Amino acid sequence: MEQLLQKIDGFKSEINNFIADKAEDAEAFRIKYLGTKGLVKEVMGEMKNVAAEQKREFGQRLNEFKLFVEAKYEELKSAAGTEPSENGLPKPDLSLPGDPLPMGSRHPISLVRNQIVSIFQRLGFAVAEGPEIEDDWHNFTALNMPENHTARDMQDTFYISQSPDWVLRTHTSSVQVREMEKGKLPIRIVCPGRVYRNETISARAHCFFHQVEGLYIAENVSFADLKQTLYFFVQEMFGKDFKVRFRPSYFPFTEPSAEMDISCLICDGSGCNVCKHTGWVEILGCGMVHPNLLENCGIDSKKYTGFAFGMGVERITMLKYQIKDLRLFSENDVRFLKQFTAAT
Ligand code: DAH
Repeated sequence: MEQLLQKIDGFKSEINNFIADKAEDAEAFRIKYLGTKGLVKEVMGEMKNVAAEQKREFGQRLNEFKLFVEAKYEELKSAAGTEPSENGLPKPDLSLPGDPLPMGSRHPISLVRNQIVSIFQRLGFAVAEGPEIEDDWHNFTALNMPENHTARDMQDTFYISQSPDWVLRTHTSSVQVREMEKGKLPIRIVCPGRVYRNETISARAHCFFHQVEGLYIAENVSFADLKQTLYFFVQEMFGKDFKVRFRPSYFPFTEPSAEMDISCLICDGSGCNVCKHTGWVEILGCGMVHPNLLENCGIDSKKYTGFAFGMGVERITMLKYQIKDLRLFSENDVRFLKQFTAAT
């Protein structure tokens, strides 16, 4: 028995010096000392060779040894970090706190677009959408801009190389045509979406931007309805502390046509760079739907009248938040983008 106990003591120092850097080392330790063919089992097997009167003491010493090895194994496991999983890779520690995800924020263009849309929804307007790749008919011809019409030059168009009939839509007025063609009257819609123009990129212009188009067609719709709807809109959008004016204008798809200006929110009408020292900033185009459009889309222009308007979301966002460079919207600089919240 003495010999056996010496053997065990010899193993103790070996075990004490065992170091586990990784989970696999701790596992190798377990197999070597605690496994079914490990050392602890082996010395336990010696029990049968020990004289009967010594069995009790030997049993106690063996038990101590086993506890010692088990304690060492626990120690090695925690030093190596994690328990090995079935595939040999360290198991993730599920009790660790997770990495916090940075909170995103809505893009200012989305915020303002949603706000514009919700103001009109409160007046009973529904949302309609259409494709960004349009045909000539919906983008131009049906809107009273036949081929060679000079108004086509007002918008520098991107053509799709596969077909001269396809363009990237230059305005969301194309969605008006699609809705009118459906023939379900009355129509009361707003059409938010992205539009494209072949413009040189600068602080004031970009090759893509966003618009919200509006259309109301029913019996007896008048210019007074148009004005009242748009007054309501600008007050909801910008508050009540400014002046509004309508200026006569020209669009091929409306007759009469107008543009709506508000007194400059930045200089309060006294003149600054933003309003080009006029005290006024243009915020949208509008007018009474031209009878040709109604007829182009199969609507009886003797029975029905309507108004339409179109506005740029970037422009309204720039005015609202006093942003001086349009390019900021598409540069994806998080320091810029995260400043905007859903507050009005
Ligand atoms: N489609 C015009 C543009 O992109 C905006 C516009 C003006 C739309 C007058 C309208 C309107 O519906 O009546 O510049």
